[in-house]
Amino acid sequence: MNHIVVIGSCNMDIVVLADKRPVAGETILGNELHIAHGGKGANQAVAAARVGANVTMVGCIGNDAYGEMIRTNLINNHINVDYLVTLDDVTTGTAHITLAEGDNSIIVIPGANARVDESIVDNAWSAIEQADLVMVQNEIPISTIEYIVRRCAAANIKVLLNPAPAANLDPQWMELATYITPNEHELSALYPGQDTTETVLAHSGKIIVTLGKQGVGIGENGAFRIIPGFSVTPVDTTGAGDTFNGAFAKAIVNGESLDNALRYGNAAAALSIQALGAQEGMPTHAAVTAFLAEHA
Ligand code: RIB
Repeated sequence: MNHIVVIGSCNMDIVVLADKRPVAGETILGNELHIAHGGKGANQAVAAARVGANVTMVGCIGNDAYGEMIRTNLINNHINVDYLVTLDDVTTGTAHITLAEGDNSIIVIPGANARVDESIVDNAWSAIEQADLVMVQNEIPISTIEYIVRRCAAANIKVLLNPAPAANLDPQWMELATYITPNEHELSALYPGQDTTETVLAHSGKIIVTLGKQGVGIGENGAFRIIPGFSVTPVDTTGAGDTFNGAFAKAIVNGESLDNALRYGNAAAALSIQALGAQEGMPTHAAVTAFLAEHA
């Protein structure tokens, strides 16, 4: 029980704090630089491990300083890195993040993440086939995501697909995933021109739409229902969705009800945005439990 395998990206986040975003052709002075651990895959792995899941990370890093820092950080978070492959001819993934005017904007350079292919998945299959849940996001090649979703479905292994960043995936294989957790923007990329509520209702029990500080929306018994989020003062919302996914996943593999697991994920996300950096504020199980007790 409690074993989660994350197959996804590992990035080093290069975070710039500034009062505003420069317009095209403009140069401005920023305020601070932070080098922080990130990548949607690694973030979700760390979020799940912090709250007590037994996590294996499958992915690729470059043979460089950032890659080594990422491997060490995962180990320090008690994550199994036996299937984290170091590649010699490519750089570690980086994300270039501007924090300004209360929000972030991000450019991701995939680097080694673009090399997470079928052979990397096959190499980790002995861990994957023992997983209670496999988590995957859109920062590795779409063809690999399709391979993971199809192969896990054939082997009766549950998959949580977080389709971020936004991409148009083929519903034929995408809907083989057990859970799909887009935000509203990602949902419209998946089902162009369709209404959010109707799409969620048409995939009740599968699609969980994340709605920022509002919480998350699900379909149940023909009705759209929101499990509310928690109101906190944010410092940095980077990685909030990843924290939700990791904490929700851990609660689900621990046998919690859907409602309890969603509330747990919302609480973890609210706690995580109170620190700078995607992983810095990710809470422990004790912190989430205390927060939920305070907000009962
Ligand atoms: O979801 C947040 C993450 O997206 C950041 O950590 C950054 O690495 C980008 O991948």
